[in-house]
Amino acid sequence: MSFRHVGRSFAVLGLLLSAPIGCTVPPQGGPAVTDTGTRINFPFDWEFRGHEPIGVGTQGMVVTADQRATQVGRDILQAGGNAVDAAVAVGFALAVVMPTAGNIGGGGFAVLRTGDGATAALDFRETAPALITPQHFLDVEGIPTNESRAGHLAVGVPGTVAGLYELHRRYGSMSWRDLLAPAIDLAENGFTVTAALHEALKGKESTLTQYGATRQVFFPGGEAPRVGSQFRQPMLARTLQEIASEGAAAFYRGAIAELIAQEMQRGGGLIRRDDLLAYEAKWRDPVTFDYRGHTIISMPPPSSGGVTMAEALNIVEGYDLRGLGFNSPESIHLLVEAFRRAFADRNYYLGDPDFVDMPIERLTSDEYALGQRASISRNRASNSESFNRVPVLREGANTTHYSIVDGAGNAIALTYTLNLSFGSGIVVPRAGFFLNNEIDDFTIRAGYPNYFGLIQSDANLVAPGKRPLSSMTPTIVLRPTGELLMVLGSPGGAKIITAVTQNIVNVIDFGMDARIAVDAPRVHHQLLPDELLYEMNGLDTQTRAVLLGMGHLVVPSDSYIGGVELIIRGPDGTLYGAADPRREDGRALGF
Ligand code: DON
Repeated sequence: MSFRHVGRSFAVLGLLLSAPIGCTVPPQGGPAVTDTGTRINFPFDWEFRGHEPIGVGTQGMVVTADQRATQVGRDILQAGGNAVDAAVAVGFALAVVMPTAGNIGGGGFAVLRTGDGATAALDFRETAPALITPQHFLDVEGIPTNESRAGHLAVGVPGTVAGLYELHRRYGSMSWRDLLAPAIDLAENGFTVTAALHEALKGKESTLTQYGATRQVFFPGGEAPRVGSQFRQPMLARTLQEIASEGAAAFYRGAIAELIAQEMQRGGGLIRRDDLLAYEAKWRDPVTFDYRGHTIISMPPPSSGGVTMAEALNIVEGYDLRGLGFNSPESIHLLVEAFRRAFADRNYYLGDPDFVDMPIERLTSDEYALGQRASISRNRASNSESFNRVPVLREGANTTHYSIVDGAGNAIALTYTLNLSFGSGIVVPRAGFFLNNEIDDFTIRAGYPNYFGLIQSDANLVAPGKRPLSSMTPTIVLRPTGELLMVLGSPGGAKIITAVTQNIVNVIDFGMDARIAVDAPRVHHQLLPDELLYEMNGLDTQTRAVLLGMGHLVVPSDSYIGGVELIIRGPDGTLYGAADPRREDGRALGF
């Protein structure tokens, strides 16, 4: 227990007297959006208690996992740019200051709603190169190897530059060059290295230093840049300059494409110039559904986020979670049973819509949820095996999300990633950016787990030109009146879906304000492994004992569950932003 932590615990002691089980958390992140009259208790030792700053504004709000990127977004809004302009600038800025997950060598998804109520979803997920086969990732006995995660074979054709370019083409109001300028400045003139970046690089030093260009850029003088030092990336600055002057073509046809293709040939990777030429960001119809009168707009396949969350929320909509209380054993039990069923369908049915047919209407319907509820006992855990339809054959991750709202009410939720921290670990020589390892999100062989323990079916089998199934869940929530209420999303692999779902429940069912909703301890269940994960100190002993008694295997998570960057729009139009303290460099700024 850190000193800071002890101090916090004492600070709430007075409140504890009136709340013997935990402690009542004072609202600080704006008004509670629903008046539930319920008292929110967090366990005494829970770390995050509503004390971090929030952003407040009326003209705009930016919440990202890095304060410099947040600043870039707010500057763009203040200069008259709209939410999409800010999102493009933030996307490039994060590629400079947060190389763990911010990227131009990865991919992601964006969900938007314009001030006049139009919605859209952009898929800029990586694609598998034309030369790929499942055999690339299986040993002689047909067992998946590590190559979907590490090294050149793990790299999917990057989508980020095409995605940001397409967002700008359709919605941007400022010049493309102006949106890249802050990122170029950060790359050229440098920024101060945070403890989080230093630790992340050090933690992966042995893998990362295998690659010459990675060593050269990120371990100058043979070591990770020191905390507090200035870190410059001139090579990346040049790459961004080219993208600024030539647009996405620089990346997919021009000099950068050539450098990627050369590195692939050199290292035995599969991406060729033709794969880059063929890459397209695709507009998809968002998954839209109703939860207790609110409208939820989220990402459709090839992300599983929206469909899986819709199924889970439709199931719990049939229960009085508010009456059962926040994180009571009964409400956790019902959420977990909903997650179990939703992940069973996710893992069995979902994949790239350009390759597989999926019963999405059925899975996200209220009738389907009714049937699912009929199989839920109020006091007994179900057996995951009875839902799993993918036979099980055997025995630091990073992504980042940001949420932006502008003065005209345009909102964008964007999640993008290299998959694991620093992706494949490969920096493109003479281009200065990391390539993803997104191929690991595919099913390599049905029944074998990927890095996130997801056991998926042939619907998500790796194939040329296909996009791997994702869990990224950029989401926008509207009030029953149709006005904007929430903009949110998270990193965390499969935990993204459960973290986002719980934040929606925190706000709609439990009436939490932005700060408390984000700080609140989370749980996670993804069907298999059959474990109910909770955050350290996030559930008190008594609650865990009741859940165990119901038959749940209750296990502490070895890491925090997600990192939610949330905006709430209050009833009077005030914007409240809360960055997740689970990711230490985050920040919300409004004006
Ligand atoms: O698309 C996905 O679901 C994963 N590639 C996301 C990876 C992730 O969130 C890692 N972050 N903590």
